Amino acid sequence: MPLELQDADPTSDFPALARALFESYEEPWQSFFHAYFPIHGAGEEAREAAIREAATRLEDWHTHDLTMRWQKIVDTETGNIATGALWNIYPENPFAETQELPATWFPDDGSRRFAEQLVELHGQPRARVGQRPHVYLFILFTHPRYRRRGLGQQIMEWGMKKADEMGVEFFLDATPMGRSLYERNGFVLIEENVILPKTDSPDDAWREIEAKVGSSTHYLMWRPAGGYKEGETIKPWEEK
Ligand SMILES: CC(C)(COP(=O)(O)OP(=O)(O)OC[C@H]1O[C@@H](n2cnc3c(N)ncnc32)[C@H](O)[C@@H]1OP(=O)(O)O)[C@@H](O)C(=O)NCCC(=O)NCCS
Repeated sequence: MPLELQDADPTSDFPALARALFESYEEPWQSFFHAYFPIHGAGEEAREAAIREAATRLEDWHTHDLTMRWQKIVDTETGNIATGALWNIYPENPFAETQELPATWFPDDGSRRFAEQLVELHGQPRARVGQRPHVYLFILFTHPRYRRRGLGQQIMEWGMKKADEMGVEFFLDATPMGRSLYERNGFVLIEENVILPKTDSPDDAWREIEAKVGSSTHYLMWRPAGGYKEGETIKPWEEK
């Protein structure tokens, strides 16, 4: 089947991207996904509502954040989205100003506090070491039907070329499932990030989401422009 890398069309692609995103993170189930894209309630209609909310939110993020660029790899025979990638292309240091992402996808109770802390903890390692222009791979997924055919690799090649053309570093927060793809491309592990939001005063909503999401591990990985060279590359954040 012919598979083609294209820029996503923001006027029409978000519903299909959101559906493919859900199906990718459901197989295998990765619990931290629920903190970003929750299903409120049980049953098929609740899941459908969650996918619709995700599509609206992805579109909203895209409209308001000019650094975002969505790509897709399409099965041109069926029109199915096989792979999706969301980039942040930062020509300036993104951490020059404080970033806040209120987790409005949860009601204003302990579940929102939990998700906001998780998002903040997720971003902290990069905020410490990535205070320069860079390329960030925010989301990458390949639908289970299309895995292990080199589609993730195709996205990585696009990103490495883009970062090299801009002369900037490339960061990502890998899931355990994605890590080997990045290692094969010469990415260096900067920090293992075990995320478990904490509070002294959990309400029922906090306890419920904590039981669902639990702790999750991400790996901050990095590639300097031109690729990492052992014994030569200096990590900019370690320079005196
Ligand atoms: C991680 C993920 C994006 C990889 O996507 P993918 O399109 O399958 O990636 P690739 O095909 O390029 O590489 C995956 C593996 O398939 C192997 N592969 C590639 N082409 C192959 C082929 N023709 N035959 C057999 N294996 C192949 C690669 O060597 C790689 O092996 P590895 O796991 O030992 O490193 C995908 O598994 C996924 O969506 N997971 C769920 C969401 C997630 O965790 N995303 C990562 C966020 S950081």
